[in-house]
Amino acid sequence: ACSSQPVTSTEAQAIGTVAELDKTGQLLNENSPIGPVLVVGTSKDANLIAVNPTCSHKGCTVAWQAQAKKFVCPCHGAEYGVDGKVQKDPATKPLKTYAAKIEGDSVVVKQ
Ligand code: FES
Repeated sequence: ACSSQPVTSTEAQAIGTVAELDKTGQLLNENSPIGPVLVVGTSKDANLIAVNPTCSHKGCTVAWQAQAKKFVCPCHGAEYGVDGKVQKDPATKPLKTYAAKIEGDSVVVKQ
């Protein structure tokens, strides 16, 4: 392991509660220790989706579209899949994705 890397960046971070996530099926924490994080899913899902919702085009916060199962940017219409990959212009770079899981009452995200 690289010793110069800050320990906090690789450790799992609690970014919200399971109750918050289950209420709407998504959880946005714009000031988490690892930066903005948007988690999609509920505690019943086997896999949670987690991304940095900052659009790679000009930095707007993308919104999750549950029906279409994609992230859409409100500013210029870029679209991203659940894997963070670009599906529609003008974005060219993917969203950063994270591993997310439930630990007790917390939603935990790891870089
Ligand atoms: Fe998202 Fe331009 S900032 S499409």
